[in-house]
Amino acid sequence: MKCKICGGKAVAEASPEKCLALCAPCYVDWFPRFIAETIRKFRMFAAQDRLLVAVSGGKDSLAVWEVLCRLGYAAEGLHVNLSIGAEHGYSSASQRHCEELAARLGKALHVVDLKQRHQLEIGDFLDMKDRPVCSCCGTFKRHFMNAVAVERGADVLVTGHNMDDECATLLGNVLRWDLHYLSRQAPVLPARTAGQLVRKVKPLCHLTERETTQYAILRGIPYVRAECPFSTGATTISGKHALDLLENRSPGTKRRFYDGYLKNSAVFRPPEAELEQAAAELSCVDCGMPSAHEVCGSCRLVRFMTERKAQGQTTGGRRRRRRAAAAVAAAAMQAALDTGPGAP
Ligand code: AMP
Ligand code: FES
Ligand code: ZN
Repeated sequence: MKCKICGGKAVAEASPEKCLALCAPCYVDWFPRFIAETIRKFRMFAAQDRLLVAVSGGKDSLAVWEVLCRLGYAAEGLHVNLSIGAEHGYSSASQRHCEELAARLGKALHVVDLKQRHQLEIGDFLDMKDRPVCSCCGTFKRHFMNAVAVERGADVLVTGHNMDDECATLLGNVLRWDLHYLSRQAPVLPARTAGQLVRKVKPLCHLTERETTQYAILRGIPYVRAECPFSTGATTISGKHALDLLENRSPGTKRRFYDGYLKNSAVFRPPEAELEQAAAELSCVDCGMPSAHEVCGSCRLVRFMTERKAQGQTTGGRRRRRRAAAAVAAAAMQAALDTGPGAP
């Protein structure tokens, strides 16, 4: 196949609705231009805004950080280390990749370490009665992302959610008819409560996982290929498989699903004043961040686990170790598959 732009040998393909096959140099030029267009289209931020990019160590967030720097934005990085994996290897590798890219870009990387800050690791939350560990992890990540953005005076928090992530989340929300989340899923969430909840944006929302992977590989961006060991069986993963199936049968399905939602999402949204009131009622007594309760979700988790540990309640320790070992083994298998000959 020939490159649509220069006629050279095409090596990378964009998703079907974009009708693009490109050679390596044209692809790595096209990708930032596409992101710049998305930023403009959704009015995500202005040239002088200070950005904080939440980088997990995966391809998407590292790619978007690299692109924003190429586009000339003032963009620092933030990594949240949750001590994941056997010997915390998954988190160490993730942080290392973030540090490598930070050094290459000559940009500051801020690191929040749950263990250093609260003497906790995410594995401590494996045995929560009514909550999957990923949900606790999400609460911590969202909390630290916003708190560090406020601390650092960032105007905007950028995440690496791509179109596959957004479609899978949307599908899950629709299947549960979760009106609260359906009212809040957008490429731009404006700042609220006098800037204490920072503006959040997703510049990759119209790019697929495959498109970002191709860019990361062509630019030699180092990233963690394995999935988080705790993510095995996560509903977003089965949602992604289901959507891949539909996309293969009918190319363009994901984009139509996502854009259709964006066009109609106002029907799920309560009036702005109601949103503002819901978030602004209280400040967390522990961390001072806006909260719907006296203690925010993240601080409640910290309190609960710190107390439990102090009382020596390591209930279910053996079961927890068994589950963690199974999750690590599954992740090793996934990593082997990811790096096998069929990997992109
Ligand atoms: P996920 O929820 O793991 O699919 O990640 C979605 C986005 O959240 C990523 O693209 C990153 O921007 C951000 N993110 C996830 N994990 C971390 C982390 N450990 N530290 C900083 N940002 C993260
Ligand atoms: Fe948080 Fe897996 S990334 S539990
Ligand atoms: Zn708090």
